[in-house]
This record gives sequence, C-alpha cells and structure tokens, in this order.
Amino acid sequence: MFKWTKSLETGNQEIDRQHMGLFDMINLLETKKSPEDILKTFEFLEEYIKFHFSTEERLMILSKYSKFSEHRNIHILLVHSFLSYKEQFAAGNLDVTQLHVFLSGWLEQHIKIMDKRMIAEICGQSEIEVSSED
Ligand SMILES: [Fe+2]
Repeated sequence: MFKWTKSLETGNQEIDRQHMGLFDMINLLETKKSPEDILKTFEFLEEYIKFHFSTEERLMILSKYSKFSEHRNIHILLVHSFLSYKEQFAAGNLDVTQLHVFLSGWLEQHIKIMDKRMIAEICGQSEIEVSSED
C-alpha cells in the first residue's frame, strides 16, 4: 500500500490533490480480487491519469513552461506503458501487483523530479487557473 508523504507535495494544491487521488486509485487496485473488478479499476485509473496529465499540460501551456514537450512526452510514454499493462492483464499475463509496483514507483519519481521542477519554475505565476473545468 502506497503512503502519501509531504516530500511529494509540489506546492500547487490542485496538482497535489490530483496526485493523492491517483495514489488512492492505484492502492485500490490491490484491494480488488476479481479480474472484472480489477479491469473496472483499470478503466477508472486510465481516465483519471489522462485527466490529470491534461490538467498539468494545460498549466504548462498557459505558463509557457520551458520543458513542456519533454514533460508531455514522458506523460505519453506512461500512458503507452499503462495500456500495454492493461492488455497483458486482460490476456491473463500479468499479476496486478506488478502494475501497482510499476505505477506507484513511476508516479513517485515523476512527482519528485519532473512535477516539482515544473511547479517551481511556474510558481511565480499564481494567477494561472489550474482547474480543468472548462
Ligand atoms: Fe507530470
């Protein structure tokens, strides 16, 4: 079970709230027993990952973040890996624990390095709305 710590805070409340939501959902994967329930959680998680990345990408565009394409490419790679894990699970070739370990490790490193660097660069632009509601 992944535990949230202060070392994961980026300083942007909306982004932090979404990161906590992601970890909650990743942890939820471990509590599901039937393949149907696990696949349903995969679907929710996929939607939430895409929603979260689009929030970050919108923020980076609005603030003209200098490393936007590098950061977005890493998001794209993660979505590809996630989809390939989902396919492997659906085909019966993956233990859900492997996905839990991969995702929580990936997210922790990504937040600590890339997201913190991004928020640090743009934190002077506090007038920018991060909310994803159009
Ligand atoms: Fe990110």
